[in-house]
Amino acid sequence: MPVSHQLSQRAHFSGPQPISELMRLALVRPELISLAAGFVDQETLPVEATREALQSVLADIPRGRAALQYGTNAGYAPLREAVLARFLAADGDQAGPLPSVDQVILTAGSNQLLHLLGDVLLDPGDLVICAAPTYFVFLGMLASVGARSVGVAIDEQGMIGEALDEELARRHEAGELARVKAIYVTSYFENPSTVTLSLERRAELVEIAKRWSRQATIYVIDDAAYRPLRYTGPDLPSLRSFDTTGDTVIVAETFSKSFSPGVRVGWGILPTELVGPVAALKGNIDFGSPHLNQHLMAAVLERGLFEPHVAALQKSYAKKLAAMLDALDEYLAGIPGVRWRRPTGGLYVWLELPDGLDAGPSGTLIQHAMDEGVIYVPGEYCYPAEGEPRRVNTIRLSFGVQSPENIRRGIAALGKAIRAA
Ligand SMILES: Cc1ncc(COP(=O)(O)O)c(C=O)c1O
Repeated sequence: MPVSHQLSQRAHFSGPQPISELMRLALVRPELISLAAGFVDQETLPVEATREALQSVLADIPRGRAALQYGTNAGYAPLREAVLARFLAADGDQAGPLPSVDQVILTAGSNQLLHLLGDVLLDPGDLVICAAPTYFVFLGMLASVGARSVGVAIDEQGMIGEALDEELARRHEAGELARVKAIYVTSYFENPSTVTLSLERRAELVEIAKRWSRQATIYVIDDAAYRPLRYTGPDLPSLRSFDTTGDTVIVAETFSKSFSPGVRVGWGILPTELVGPVAALKGNIDFGSPHLNQHLMAAVLERGLFEPHVAALQKSYAKKLAAMLDALDEYLAGIPGVRWRRPTGGLYVWLELPDGLDAGPSGTLIQHAMDEGVIYVPGEYCYPAEGEPRRVNTIRLSFGVQSPENIRRGIAALGKAIRAA
C-alpha cells in the first residue's frame, strides 16, 4: 500500500522564495546581466582581513580551541559587548533605559533573528504591519508561520505615520488589534524602496506603536541591515533610541552587508521580556550560532579591520550607485511615467514604471528584458498580502554585484526593454 507523505501545516504555509527562479536563471544563463540578486560585491569581499583575523584567533592555541568548541546560546560575550558598545556609540542618547549586554543575542545572520521573532511572536492569523513595499524574504517568513502581512504606504520619509495610525484604527474597529503583533521597518535604505526613515518618523512610529499597545505590546522590529552602507549624509539614530521604556523596539543588525554574508553573523538587541523566549527557542534549535565565526568577527573588530573595510565598501558602492543613476538618467529619463529615487545608501534602486506596464513574472516586460540580456526583481514580490495594494509596475534593481560598465549595459538594455514593452 502506498504510504502518504504527510507534511506539517507549517510546511504547507511555506512556498518557495519568489526570486529563486531568477537566481536559477542567472546561473543557467550567465550572459544575462543580473540586476536582481541583492548579493554583496564579490570583488570587495574581505579575504585578507578575514585571514588576518582568523590567524589571530588560531595562533593562540587556547583561544583557537575555545573558538572551535561549542559556544553559548546567546553567543560569544566579547562580541556581544562589542556590538552593543558600537550600537550605543552610533546612536548617542537613548530616550529610555540603556540596553544591557544580556539583551544582545548573536544569530546566524539577521534572518535567523527575524525567524526566531516570527516563531516567538506569531500564531497563524496574527498580523504584522510592514511598509509597502518591503523586504520580500521577511514576507516569506511571515507566510511560513501562517501570519498575515499588512502593507502601509510610504513616502520620501518612509512609512507614513498617519497611514499606520489609520491601519491600526481599522484593525481596532474590526476587533483585530490584539492580533497585531509587530510593525516591521527597514529604517535605513529600505530594501527595496531605498527610503530612509526620517528622524521625525522614527519618533512618530515608536509613539504610535506604544499608543496602540492597548491589550498587548505591538513591537517595532527595526531591521538595520544596511545602516553601515551610507554613501552621503550623516547617520541617524535607531528607532530604539526613541523607545522611552525600552520594551517596544527590537533591533536587528548584521555583518552580512558590511563585512561578509558568508560568515553569517547577525544580532538582535531585544526588549527584556523577549530575551527568555527567544533564547529558549534558539536553545532548542542550535544552542548557539557558529562560534568560530563569532570569534572571527570579534577579532575583526578588535584588530581595527572593520572600519577600513566599511570605508572601502562605501567608496566602491558609491561609484556603482553613481554609475546606475547616470545610466538611468541617460537611458530612461526620456520615457514618460518612469521614475526612481536617488538613494544615499544601500544596494538598490527602486523603479516605478508607467501605469499599466506589468513588470511581474508573467507580464510583458520581463521577457523583453531577458531578450535584451538583463534581469531584475519584479517589485510585486515586495508587497504585503493585505493593505496597500500591490503595484505590478515596479522593479527593484541591485547595483552591488555588477561592475559599473555592466550596470551601464544592463540599464541600457532595460531602457530598450521598457520601450519595447
Ligand atoms: C532588509 C534585510 N534584512 C535582513 C537581511 C538578511 O541578512 P542576513 O541574514 O544575511 O544577516 C537582508 C539581506 O538581504 C535584508 O535585505
